[in-house]
Amino acid sequence: MSVPGRESGRTVCISGGASGIGAGLVAGFLASGDRVYTFGRDPGKLERLTERWPDQIANGTLIALVGDVTDADFRAQLVSTIAGQSGRLDVLVNNAGVILDSGELEESVDAWRATLETNLIAPFAMTQACAGLLERSDAPVVINLSSACGQHPFAACTSTSYSVSKAGLDMLTRRLALGLGPRGIRVNGVAPGVVASEMWGGQTDLIASTVQARHVLKQQIVTPADVADAVLFLASSRARLVTGATLNVDAGYTLG
Ligand SMILES: NC(=O)c1ccc[n+]([C@@H]2O[C@H](COP(=O)([O-])OP(=O)(O)OC[C@H]3O[C@@H](n4cnc5c(N)ncnc54)[C@H](OP(=O)(O)O)[C@@H]3O)[C@@H](O)[C@H]2O)c1
Repeated sequence: MSVPGRESGRTVCISGGASGIGAGLVAGFLASGDRVYTFGRDPGKLERLTERWPDQIANGTLIALVGDVTDADFRAQLVSTIAGQSGRLDVLVNNAGVILDSGELEESVDAWRATLETNLIAPFAMTQACAGLLERSDAPVVINLSSACGQHPFAACTSTSYSVSKAGLDMLTRRLALGLGPRGIRVNGVAPGVVASEMWGGQTDLIASTVQARHVLKQQIVTPADVADAVLFLASSRARLVTGATLNVDAGYTLG
């Protein structure tokens, strides 16, 4: 059993932890002394993650699996693995996300479908699959990785399907908080501004110009560690009465 209010020794599941923000979340929870399960589709990316944490892989505090969050069979297998090895889940972070196309009418219907499947339906399905395991924790929490792009039709957010998926995710956070609160499960979100990750496809000039145009805090870029700090706070007992909230970590992106 986890100790109420304890900020270590938890069992944590993070989707898409092999790169970018997810890798920062893995580092943050491992530094807190938690056991972390993570997964992604690309075995090469996962291998690079495991090379970074050899001791944690060896002693079983980091478990990195190849799997697709949109695959129901994989989700069931993951839940069964966590149940068998850890017996409960304290923190679920729905981090995996994609941008697949850009424009308004220019985006393909297939890109829309795949974006919603990964960014919106999968967080719901993961929470649904993990709810029983979360109930076995004495301080369970779900945290959804949203985006500044979900809060306003900013021109700088070029993918409409992405923005809509994140707007939907913010409502999902609130609906799940409402539904799962009576079961003791808190549900919150974190909405970053610009983080230089693989999601930007190496467009360094676009990253720099977007930060310059939208971040009001001296045009500072958001780091995975900044996002991890917010997630660790929301996962902690210091946020024990915070539920249904989405915390912006955006250097002021959404202010204007
Ligand atoms: N970067 C930003 O500026 C920014 C801003 C606001 C919000 N966010 C959000 O932050 C989250 C993390 O993004 P990031 O910036 O860290 O991008 P990233 O480096 O591309 O990371 C996304 C991760 O999700 C995994 N993933 C994608 N689809 C998956 C699937 N179907 N099943 C399992 N894993 C999957 C990817 O691994 P595989 O490809 O190996 O599956 C990858 O490791 C996303 O939800 C994103 O929308 C990012």
